Amino acid sequence: MNIFNRTFGLMVLILFVFFDSVASDNVHVSVKNKLGDGKNLTVHCQSKDNDLGEQTLTDGSEYGWDFSVNAWGSTLFYCDITWETVNRYHFDSYSYDRDWKRCESQCLWTVSGEGKR
Ligand SMILES: *[C@@H]1O[C@H](CO)[C@@H](O)[C@H](O)[C@H]1NC(C)=O
Repeated sequence: MNIFNRTFGLMVLILFVFFDSVASDNVHVSVKNKLGDGKNLTVHCQSKDNDLGEQTLTDGSEYGWDFSVNAWGSTLFYCDITWETVNRYHFDSYSYDRDWKRCESQCLWTVSGEGKR
């Protein structure tokens, strides 16, 4: 192995370790229906690459998913929630820039009558 190959090998190894540590950073985000009175909540979450589809949450139930933040730190999931008179309230359920510290591995959104918490 000449010096170039050795340097290259080392760089690949360092990159691999770096990507690996970022990619294994699993985050769990969930949305919980706390509307009460047996009200259903419709949740539709997606990211640039994943459409999680529309989910109906009965009163008290919770919907969540796991993902790894990408190595570029640009992971963003957004949701539209609908219940009763509220049609398609839009919010970011996970934004790496905002949440990497706040919810390192767990992000729970609770939707109650007064709004989301
Ligand atoms: C809520 O959703 C469940 C399951 O989809 C359904 O059986 C029920 O009738 C719904 N309740 C209301 C209040 O719409």
